[in-house]
Amino acid sequence: MIKIVYNIKIYREVLRDVIRKDDVVVELGCHLGNSTRIMADMAPEGRIIALDKSDEAADSMKDITGLHSNIEFIKADARLHETLETVALKLKDHGGCDVLSVDLGGGHYPDTTFKVFFIWSSTLRPRDTIIRNRGLLDFLHSSSSSEVIKSWEGWLESSGGDGVPPRLKELNLWSTNIK
Ligand SMILES: C[S@@+](CC[C@H](N)C(=O)[O-])C[C@H]1O[C@@H](n2cnc3c(N)ncnc32)[C@H](O)[C@@H]1O
Repeated sequence: MIKIVYNIKIYREVLRDVIRKDDVVVELGCHLGNSTRIMADMAPEGRIIALDKSDEAADSMKDITGLHSNIEFIKADARLHETLETVALKLKDHGGCDVLSVDLGGGHYPDTTFKVFFIWSSTLRPRDTIIRNRGLLDFLHSSSSSEVIKSWEGWLESSGGDGVPPRLKELNLWSTNIK
C-alpha cells in the first residue's frame, strides 16, 4: 500500500496505523527524529533505519539513538545511489524492508521526493510506503485518467525493476524482496 499525506499529524497517525511490532522501517528525512520515536515505539521488536543529510538531524539523532536501541541513524543524502546501496546491504541482515517512509521536506520538492520514492521503493520492495509531500498530494487529487494501472504493495509493481539502479541490480540484492 502506498499512502500520500501532507499534514504532519496525519503522517504520524498513518505511521501508527501501518507499522507492526516487528517491522523493519526505513525513514528518509528523519530531521530531529520526532516521527522516528513513534516508529520505534510501534516496532519494539523491529528496527528503524533513519536517514537525513543535515547536521541538525545528526545532533538530535545522537541523543535519540542513545535512548532507543532499535533506531540506527545514517547521515547521508538519499539521492545518492551509494546511500541506497549502504542501506540495502544493512537490510540483508534484517530480512528486508517492511515500511518505507519518505519526507524530504513536506511542502517542497515533489520532483525529488517522487524520484527518491521510485528508486528506493523499487529496490527495497517494502510492504507499505508513506510519502509526506504537498505537491504529490495535490497532483494525486488534481489529475484524472480513463486508464487504470495500479499497484498493491509499497512500490510500483507494474514498473518491475525499472527503478533499480544498475549497480544494485548487479549485487543481486533481492528476489521477491531483498531477503
Ligand atoms: C520536513 S523535514 C522531516 C520531518 C520529519 N520526517 C518529521 O516527521 O519530523 C525534511 C528533512 O529531510 C531532509 N532531507 C531533505 N533532502 C534530503 C536528502 N536528499 N537526503 C537526506 N535527507 C534529506 C532534511 O534535512 C530535513 O531534515
